[in-house]
Amino acid sequence: MINYTEKIPNNVDLGRDRVLQRALEHWQPAYMGWWYDMGPNESHNYEVYLRTAISVEPDGWAQFDYVKMPEYRWGIFLQPRDEKREVNFGIHKGQPAWQEVPGEYRSTLRRVIVTQGDTEPASVEQQRMLGASCPSMYDLRNIFQVNVEEGRHLWAMVYLLHRYFGRDGREEAESLLARRSGDADNPRILGAFNEPTPDWLAFYMFTFFTDRDGKFQLCALAESGFDPLARTCRFMLTEEAHHMFVGETGVGRIIQRTCEVMKENKVEDPSDVRALGVIDLQTIQKYLNFHYSVTLDLYGSDISSNAANYYTSGLKGRFRETKLEDDHVLAEAVYPVSEVVGGKIITKNVPALTALNERLRDDYIDEIADGVGRWQRVIDNAGIPFRLTLPHKGFHRAIGNFAGHSVSPEGEVLSEQAWKNHEFEWLPNSKDYAYVQSLMSGRVVELGKFANWIAPPARGVNNQPLNFEYVRFN
Ligand SMILES: [Fe+2]
Ligand SMILES: [Fe+2]
Repeated sequence: MINYTEKIPNNVDLGRDRVLQRALEHWQPAYMGWWYDMGPNESHNYEVYLRTAISVEPDGWAQFDYVKMPEYRWGIFLQPRDEKREVNFGIHKGQPAWQEVPGEYRSTLRRVIVTQGDTEPASVEQQRMLGASCPSMYDLRNIFQVNVEEGRHLWAMVYLLHRYFGRDGREEAESLLARRSGDADNPRILGAFNEPTPDWLAFYMFTFFTDRDGKFQLCALAESGFDPLARTCRFMLTEEAHHMFVGETGVGRIIQRTCEVMKENKVEDPSDVRALGVIDLQTIQKYLNFHYSVTLDLYGSDISSNAANYYTSGLKGRFRETKLEDDHVLAEAVYPVSEVVGGKIITKNVPALTALNERLRDDYIDEIADGVGRWQRVIDNAGIPFRLTLPHKGFHRAIGNFAGHSVSPEGEVLSEQAWKNHEFEWLPNSKDYAYVQSLMSGRVVELGKFANWIAPPARGVNNQPLNFEYVRFN
């Protein structure tokens, strides 16, 4: 008999919930099987300097120590309950927040939880080979931290499925371990989570762009009238912040290193920059274009009756719902949405309720723009005349009003032929990928050493020095 309280740190009284324990008895070995198969490659004996959450108190979710990843204690944490919390939007606004699943929303809510849950193991699968080409021990430790926390996020969603959705929930929990990123027959649910993450530039872009989609989805679900979901997502957000930090600083350090080398050697031409073994800014812009556009698709159709239903029923709110000053019902409100008409992009107002995907996407874009501005400052500080830009929202989109249209990064609607002529000036081509991967042919793990193509970080993890032994290989 497993002692769950010891093995799975939690604040949901796991030790006293027999139904939940029985469900987990079946699921936990399957999860471990998945981790051994699909978790970070060749890592099972490494001891990694990891942060483990053991409670939701500020000092409880930042416990650092060496851990073998298969022995990581994937805990189940909900933000403490606020007895006075209400449903804050939609037709049930003002009612007490739900502690059990409302019968009429059962299948919708299950779908929302499964869709979120599916992204968590997907990203672990996407990143599983990257340890073999890490640029430093510091970065290796960081990717492992992201991986175990995505594993914990899967646990967080599986907890909800097991606890509140009975047999259907248990079946969904099994399917979450059965789908595989990029698999032709049984892929992950959402497109961006089936794209490969072939190198470390892609990894940092992914954690900056796609983990941030995770943040915005979690923020919307953290407003849910279904209180256990809201409380689960609130705690997940504390970890998501670290993933975005890894992405933003990772790309920033690559840019910094490129700029240093460009200045030292007085070169600007991309082929001269590449000859010096760093990633040219043009290629960084192409990766940015790719990851930004595939992540924008994750928000779904610009006009969506599903999104309207989720909101009206109180299941999924807006970003910072309770801080917004309006009626939280959106009966009369309108919101601007773009579409392509006769070869031109036009914007029109539609009922705000139907445009909630678009609104969340716009909130996301605002935050992305700030981060890209911080990368730009690194280039500006080096005195290099290069501008990183966010492409137009309609660029390279496969979902929503822009799907099926060819839109340039500047927002010009192109013919298919014109798009084809320029596509690989805007998106990474096979040569770009091959070049980036040629820099990452092996791992750099000497203490305190960093690959030539990336600058060291400003500081180490948990106040440790940069030459700290973040991973023991045994
Ligand atoms: Fe996550
Ligand atoms: Fe994440």
